[in-house]
Amino acid sequence: MQVWKDYQDKNKDRFLGELMTLLRIPSVSARSEHKPDMKTCAEAVRAALLEAGADKATIFATDGHPIVYGEKIIDPAKPTILVYGHYDVQPPDPLELWHSGPFEPVVKDGRLYARGSADDKGQVHMHIKAFETMVRTGTLTCNVKFIIEGEEEVGSPNLGKFVENRAPLLACDVVLISDTSMLSLETPSIDVGLRGLSYIEVTVTGPNRDLHSGVYGGAIGNPVTTLAEMIASMHDAHGRVNIPGFYEDVKELPGAERAELARAPFDEAAYKTDLGVAALWGEEGYSTNERTGIRPTLEVNGMWGGYTGEGAKTVLPSKAYAKISCRLVPDQKSAKITELLLNHLRKIAPPYVTVEAHEHHGGDPYITPVDSIEYKAASKAMETTFGKTPIPMRGGGSIPITALFEKTLQVKVVLLGFGLDSDNLHSPNEKFDLANYYKGIETIPWFHQYFAEMKAQK
Ligand code: BES
Ligand code: MN
Ligand code: MN
Repeated sequence: MQVWKDYQDKNKDRFLGELMTLLRIPSVSARSEHKPDMKTCAEAVRAALLEAGADKATIFATDGHPIVYGEKIIDPAKPTILVYGHYDVQPPDPLELWHSGPFEPVVKDGRLYARGSADDKGQVHMHIKAFETMVRTGTLTCNVKFIIEGEEEVGSPNLGKFVENRAPLLACDVVLISDTSMLSLETPSIDVGLRGLSYIEVTVTGPNRDLHSGVYGGAIGNPVTTLAEMIASMHDAHGRVNIPGFYEDVKELPGAERAELARAPFDEAAYKTDLGVAALWGEEGYSTNERTGIRPTLEVNGMWGGYTGEGAKTVLPSKAYAKISCRLVPDQKSAKITELLLNHLRKIAPPYVTVEAHEHHGGDPYITPVDSIEYKAASKAMETTFGKTPIPMRGGGSIPITALFEKTLQVKVVLLGFGLDSDNLHSPNEKFDLANYYKGIETIPWFHQYFAEMKAQK
């Protein structure tokens, strides 16, 4: 629509300046020293919603970081879009690998570099500016609600309860999330699925104290070796997870759906070069896109124990630790897989060690049906602004609250993401291409319009 274009062209530099202000707030949810910054950032999001035209915007305290809620109800008879996003970011370290400060946003070659630029402040900001565009040009077609949380990157430990307790406040016709990637600016795509997550930590204890590895070595089971063996036993030679029952609830995808997903272009040589590996690995019988999209996995996220300092120390350690997470696919349930994983680790432990294992966080997998009006409105919106029908994809990552939105609010969730896999999410030098940022702001009002139209026809 020309009025949208005109408004956005006229204000694009201001939009970017405002986003950069937001990116300067180091809202790292995982670190307690950033607690004041989390409050500052929540305040900034609230102010941005009000400035953009929200009728009201509120900050809800939680046991962790605050949740920002805002809304504009133009007509209760019109459909309501609930926009979800997160203002928290991952820790920026290792700092020495950044070319510029993680919280000192800079634009270089059309890219905005800063922690949170793509994940997820930049994408949240697209929604606020798209909303502003519709408010200021008098073209809102739907009621809009925003829920922007500060704990996504630590597993959304307080949001589930909030959504359940506040279901009437959050009542809507669709949840719209921009916190995923697309293939490229030339090849738009929409994630129609997200994997779930089960995240645990395990401690293996051998002797009651660190021992001299010469005096005792050979007679005592080494907990680091033992944990390594336990972990190694959890995959078989075919790249499958070797835990009884792990695949029990996995729904095999029908051939037609696998063929549809295989439409996504994939360059294996470029993929390997980009990651610096000579060969790929994974579950036999599945392509790389399937391994990261429609299949469940188990990964060690970190493992430590014994002496890791400078030089050498001949020690037989008392303890070994690992953080382990599984990505889940329909119809696996996070609670069930977490239990399975914890019990399996306790069971396979040899008698010369003890095992303590506990859950960190989790979330269930989610699928957006491609034949739903929610998906069709998103697809048509992207087609309008990109000139190409987007390819439906399965995202490998997780947004823990997604499945709970569907369950509690009884609506579909659409993942209209504008990032790229190459945005360095959670890594040094995170960036967001400005072209994607502006394309997002341009596309979102079309989603509102098409969703309202399709909803009225239903
Ligand atoms: N935005 C990501 C999830 C994502 C990224 C999905 C790219 C699809 C494509 C989100 O912020 C994230 O990082 N989620 C975490 C979950 C968590 C910390 C509980 C993840 O997937 O590891
Ligand atoms: Mn995110
Ligand atoms: Mn993230």
